[in-house]
Amino acid sequence: MSSHDIPEENLPAEQATHERGRGAVSVADERNPFADPGLPPHEHRIQDVDERAAKRSERTVALLFTVSMLATLGFIASYVTIPVDKSTYIFPIGHINALNFALGLTLGVALFAIGAGAVHWARTLMSDVEVADERHPIEASPEVRAKVHADFKQGAKESALGRRKLIRNTMLGALTLVPLTGVVLLRDLGPLPGTSLRHTLWAKGKRLVNMNTHQPLRPEDLTVGSLTFAMPDGLKETDENFQTEIAKAALMIVRLQPGDIKDKRELDWGHEGIVAFSKICTHVGCPVSLYEQQTHHALCPCHQSTFDLSDGARVIFGPAGHALPQLRIGVDSEGYLQALGDFEEPVGPAFWERG
Ligand code: FES
Repeated sequence: MSSHDIPEENLPAEQATHERGRGAVSVADERNPFADPGLPPHEHRIQDVDERAAKRSERTVALLFTVSMLATLGFIASYVTIPVDKSTYIFPIGHINALNFALGLTLGVALFAIGAGAVHWARTLMSDVEVADERHPIEASPEVRAKVHADFKQGAKESALGRRKLIRNTMLGALTLVPLTGVVLLRDLGPLPGTSLRHTLWAKGKRLVNMNTHQPLRPEDLTVGSLTFAMPDGLKETDENFQTEIAKAALMIVRLQPGDIKDKRELDWGHEGIVAFSKICTHVGCPVSLYEQQTHHALCPCHQSTFDLSDGARVIFGPAGHALPQLRIGVDSEGYLQALGDFEEPVGPAFWERG
């Protein structure tokens, strides 16, 4: 039954008043796009017009609250009576702790019944009359708009922009050109990386030099579980491009038990369990510097990316998007560790697209 079917004198006073305010849009308002369109017709619920239906809803709400009370009592009784270590079989879950099950079930029912009762009460018995919040019009009055228009015209006239075309044209030129200063400054962002990250100083036959002692490394210098940082032979801290080159070529060398290495390619690219990975994190380029011997995990201190050095340096945690690139190494005729080529993929942040 809709409000249109109920005579106004049969409605509650509050709703009758409200009904009179609905849809009262005058002909003048229809021409005004800012006029209040009024509320849509109010639909009465069955409980609003039928006392027996309202009573039924009342009993339903009371029943739900009663269920909640019983469930709460059940919760307390379960807590007091069920032994902590008693298990029960629940299909299809299997054996679970009886006390936990009883507490969870009773508390869940108690809370659900309160919520369901409150929702049913609000939907069926509380007033559902829509209320409009009347506001003053936000448009300016015709007088104010006319004054602004007149002021603008007066200002334009006094500036003589229309008459003094030379000023107007040079001003437009100046305003157009000045933003170009910002464009020129973009050059200071530096050159694009291009292919520079695809090549490092590593090449076939280049020896691995300890970054601290500056001595070429032999396999016997590295014990199982140790972590050593290395750079290419020939690179000196006094070199003009030292920072650029070390930032790409820095190596992290670990010695693992060959049997601990899960990745076959990693094993083949190393020497008797000695494997070399780029030290530059593939997230945003911090130096990876922490190593946990037991798990073979290397950690980047910047954002906690973690790489498993026994499994191709794949990422096992953190924001890095790629494994650390591995350098293929071997031993030269004099027994020193050497590179067998450059990295096969770009080092450093993965956002440079490895394609
Ligand atoms: S730079 Fe290594 S985790 Fe962000």
